[in-house]
Amino acid sequence: MYQQQQTKAFQQRTSEWLSSAKASDIAELVAANTEDLRDVLRFHEYRYYVQNDPLISDAEYDTLFKLLQKFEQENPSAITPDSPTQRVGAGLIKDFAKVQHLVPMLSLENSYDEADLLDWDRKARDLSGLDKIEYCVEPKFDGASISVIYDDDHLVRSATRGDGVVGDEITLNTKQIKSMPLSARFSSYGIDQIEIRGEVLINKNNFKVYNDKLVEEGLPPFANPRNAAAGTLRIKDTAQVSKRNLEVFLYHVSYATNAAHQPLVTGQQTGQTKFSAALAAKGQQPTTHSGMLEMLWNLGFRSPQKEMKVVKGISGVIQYVQEFEAKRDSLPYEIDGMVIKVNDLTLQERLGMTSHHPRWAIAFKFKARQGTSKLRAVEFQVGRTGAVTPVAKIEPVQVGGVTVTSISIHNEEYIREKDLLLGDTILIERSGDVIPQIVKSFAELRTGKETRIKFPTHCPVCNDLLFKPVGEAVWRCMNIGCQAQVVERIIHFVSKDAMDIKSFGEANVRKFYDLGLLKDVPGIYRLNFEAISKLEGFGKKSIDNLQSAIEHSKTQPLHRLIYGLGIRYCGETTAKTLANAVNHLLDFKDFSEEQLQNLEDVGVKVAGSIYRFFHDRDNLEMLETLETLGISLKNQKKQQSVHSILTGQTFLFTGSLTQLKRSDAEEMVEKNGGKIVSGVSSKLNYLVVGEDAGSKLEKAKKIQSIKIINEEDFIRMLPT
Ligand code: IVH
Repeated sequence: MYQQQQTKAFQQRTSEWLSSAKASDIAELVAANTEDLRDVLRFHEYRYYVQNDPLISDAEYDTLFKLLQKFEQENPSAITPDSPTQRVGAGLIKDFAKVQHLVPMLSLENSYDEADLLDWDRKARDLSGLDKIEYCVEPKFDGASISVIYDDDHLVRSATRGDGVVGDEITLNTKQIKSMPLSARFSSYGIDQIEIRGEVLINKNNFKVYNDKLVEEGLPPFANPRNAAAGTLRIKDTAQVSKRNLEVFLYHVSYATNAAHQPLVTGQQTGQTKFSAALAAKGQQPTTHSGMLEMLWNLGFRSPQKEMKVVKGISGVIQYVQEFEAKRDSLPYEIDGMVIKVNDLTLQERLGMTSHHPRWAIAFKFKARQGTSKLRAVEFQVGRTGAVTPVAKIEPVQVGGVTVTSISIHNEEYIREKDLLLGDTILIERSGDVIPQIVKSFAELRTGKETRIKFPTHCPVCNDLLFKPVGEAVWRCMNIGCQAQVVERIIHFVSKDAMDIKSFGEANVRKFYDLGLLKDVPGIYRLNFEAISKLEGFGKKSIDNLQSAIEHSKTQPLHRLIYGLGIRYCGETTAKTLANAVNHLLDFKDFSEEQLQNLEDVGVKVAGSIYRFFHDRDNLEMLETLETLGISLKNQKKQQSVHSILTGQTFLFTGSLTQLKRSDAEEMVEKNGGKIVSGVSSKLNYLVVGEDAGSKLEKAKKIQSIKIINEEDFIRMLPT
């Protein structure tokens, strides 16, 4: 939506804002140019969330965002409803009001193979009398469908599909979606009010992160990204919604009026879209579906502008559908098929609809990633935190090219929620690379022979009595010496996302443990390779590999070590936050729970768990042992950034310094990775000039590449 020229102008305005961000008169600048700052932020949101092509770093965006936020906090009367700040933290929603869609949200007819498509095309050609129809083919996004209304260029209402006629009002929640413009210049297209449909998604990556977190907390995960997106739209705390990073694609205009409030779209009866011929003739409004997607794109919406293709005739449709199916797995979000739409809006209207579906569109469904199976047995596994997890053993079933034989069913609540009985017929889904999940059981297929799943009262490994803390969903074995927990902790420590000790793996951990060669995490670094070399399958090469992988792990970044420790509620994201907060891991000994809670995304529960971990004598002893065994507990990144800020730079001081002693200044250069040189030459990067500087300054002035700075400039270059 932004022309190249505008992009350049925005870049310019961005750097001006960034460079004045710390200026003393910044408050006045923001007050006088608030809308400009908002525009700059909107531009960067568009680059990031719609175009997926950011021009500035997250930190730079945050700097600008905070400028605006601070100003608006101090001047609440200056807040505008479409200010970028108004997405965030809009508050708690009491109840979702029921609202009627301007035009009922119909579903589409489904097709599953080439023959279905040929058939559908033939009918459309017969009805229209055309030889070849122009189609627009686009992905069928697998999320939660919504409809949104813009009035006078402002987003005024969003709703879930509901029963197609009435849905839940979720305006505040959709405002948390960064790719959803809060305002758009529909007026430039002669549009006064518009209703648009789209799909809210959670991308595969975010889905995985979020589900892992749920599992970590002992909560039931979502079966697929679609459920996660739909579930998120129904959260009543907008701040939580914001954290889930929802995305949206908008793909259909169902209703629009002009400034005189006359309908531009006659979709009421037929569900199709057609702008008034008069305005279309003026070239103001689109006459095709693809034109409509383009209009939305130009107005700053994420429409499937880049993903769609216009083709003439059904053979081109079939080809594009196949092309897309081939890249389904590599897309960052889930799609479950393609939607084929008659491109010409007038022809859409002529084709109209049946009692259920429009005749001008059809969904082509990709091969399902679902399968049915039977729940045969449930086994109970003890994890590294002692959590006892039921695992369903099912009749082998092929889902999305993988044979599934067992599936985690998380906890009792999950079993109740999914209404699972032993012997049940169940629906399995595996989306993308996500682990398979049970979608539901078929109660209607029960024979009466199905039986309840019984939870053990004692640990299946060490036989200790199981315990379920108040408010938690998971039964736990509280015996931290329980063999299962110890082994799982070591497996987690060496795993790919933790210390990534290649060629160690689960099988070796179990083998070494069973043979008494490994009994705890520090034991990894004290392995008796001589004893291992006597084992079958451990030749010189595999021992060398193992040894060097173990050695390599000693300098893994701190966040990997933290994650590897398997602290409860501490997933990879929290581990990174923790690693960034300290210079040395044992610094956490001195953190209070409040200090921990001040870290990003660390809530009361997580902080409590981390606090307990770093106040447990055994844990501290284990960390100290690891350090003596050569494992780095230091935040190398932080140390590096402090010490190497001047790496590769040469300095020379001349004249008398007033704030620093010459020797101290030189030491600071060296401590930060820089070098002191003895004379002025082209090899000198910085000449630091004190009072009464002499010939060196004169000489340096003649060499252009030398930067001449004063004492204050130099002090500013150093880390604080
Ligand atoms: S067009 C009147 N286009 O699939 C036509 N739908 O059963 C409106 N969907 O309810 C729908 N991607 O939730 C359309 N590119 C797309 C879509 C799409 C996903 C969903 C939508 C609809 C269902 C159709």
